[in-house]
Amino acid sequence: MTHELIAAPLTGEGLAERAFRDPHRPRFHFTSPGGWLNDPNGLSHWNGVYHLFYQYNPLAPAHHRIHWGHATSTDLVTWTDEPVALVPGTTGPDRDGCWSGVLVDDGGVPTLVYSGRHGERELPCVATGSPDLRHWTKDPGNPVIPAPPTGVDVTAYRDHCVWREGPVWRQLVGSGVRGRGGTAFLYESEDLRHWRYVGPLLTGDAAHGTPADLDWTGTMWECVDLFRVGDVDVLAFSAWDEGTTFHPLYWTGRYTADRFEPTALHRLDYGRNYFYAPQSTLDAHGRRIMFGWLQEGRGEEATARAGWSGVMSLPRLVTQGADGALAQTPVPELEKLRRDHVAVAPFEAGPDSPLDAIRGDQLDLEATLRLAPGATVRLAVRETPDGAERTVVEVTRDTTSPSGTLRLHREASSLDPDVDTAPRHGELPFGADGTVELRVLVDHSALEIFANGRALTARVYPTRPDAATGVSLTAVGHATVDRLDAWRMAPITTGPRPLWP
Ligand code: FRU
Repeated sequence: MTHELIAAPLTGEGLAERAFRDPHRPRFHFTSPGGWLNDPNGLSHWNGVYHLFYQYNPLAPAHHRIHWGHATSTDLVTWTDEPVALVPGTTGPDRDGCWSGVLVDDGGVPTLVYSGRHGERELPCVATGSPDLRHWTKDPGNPVIPAPPTGVDVTAYRDHCVWREGPVWRQLVGSGVRGRGGTAFLYESEDLRHWRYVGPLLTGDAAHGTPADLDWTGTMWECVDLFRVGDVDVLAFSAWDEGTTFHPLYWTGRYTADRFEPTALHRLDYGRNYFYAPQSTLDAHGRRIMFGWLQEGRGEEATARAGWSGVMSLPRLVTQGADGALAQTPVPELEKLRRDHVAVAPFEAGPDSPLDAIRGDQLDLEATLRLAPGATVRLAVRETPDGAERTVVEVTRDTTSPSGTLRLHREASSLDPDVDTAPRHGELPFGADGTVELRVLVDHSALEIFANGRALTARVYPTRPDAATGVSLTAVGHATVDRLDAWRMAPITTGPRPLWP
């Protein structure tokens, strides 16, 4: 990416205004005020307030000299911009960026553990916060780990998962071992400042598989996240390989002492790069809440003109699914944005079932579908009246097995040749009687689909965004729509926001 090209004409005033005016800008997802956003960071529920930090470049919609943006919420729905939390130093280990990390409670002291970037090198750094989490002081001892472990040839070393375990802190740092694959290095500390290397928690096997495999574990693991859901331990990571691989995966298994014993590998989101670098936290209600980064799918020039890049996913509730995988749904709090309810009476889906009463580019659609073996249901959104542009969510039930496939067809989602219109798909478990609980959230260019707990996230950019508001449904084979409810979603921001709150 050529940062200079993008940065030069667009710095300073105008970026936030331009971003706000862009018709592709989501209105009920969190976005940065302007400029660039990538990973969620420091996700936590602190004294009743949700804190969402994020990788932020307030100067341009380009990944360059990354800061930590910060926003707070009491309901996970509306957000208040807080002062930028971390700014790259003029000297020191984070002079080229403050990369991803977490927030922990060190005996009442809010403490960030993040990756300081200098040149091509990233090393663990620490910063402590004021009681209101608005002002942050970097530790003079940074970096708190001076180098990756010796004796292994690491390809990369960054991103942190930190937790308290009895009398000690434990930390994972994402990495990759040359010739082997991605890994998470485990450390231990009494004070978050001095760390002992324990060993690799788990190492992938890059030799088995290729970048073309949708569950290839890559050559490096970004944004490792270890947590427990129900009675299963989960090691989530973003499988990465230079220029070829960006997809979020997770192992289910058992975390014991210094190892993670994996039982199965799963895809976290079938949208792959469109739900990347997720981070999760346990809130005060005992819920596992997860956010991910929805990257852009349009050309660089268009992104530069738009003045912003990157969307934060809706907050997801992550629970243990019945089939050994995780189940994901948007948090129920989002329902408070629902307006103008349309309830469609149950119907037998046919070759053409226009849903004329439903229209919009900010929608929450919720349906219960029942498919006979071999049937397919297609729900089109962001459809122009002539059908030239449309994005299709497709659910197919296998003829013989109790499962099927969730697909997203984006081939006709935009007539702009610079837009990524590649389809996405993944395996979909069906309910006993062939049911699928489908939820589709359309927010201008952001699309989040949930089907029986599986998620598929993507971006779409119709060239006639004002006309691409239609919704329709078609079926092949025998399928019924037992329930279909639709709402317009209210926006969470009403105007441009300061880039430097
Ligand atoms: C993931 C990632 C992290 C890194 C950050 C930099 O998207 O590459 O590994 O810390 O983004 O912004």
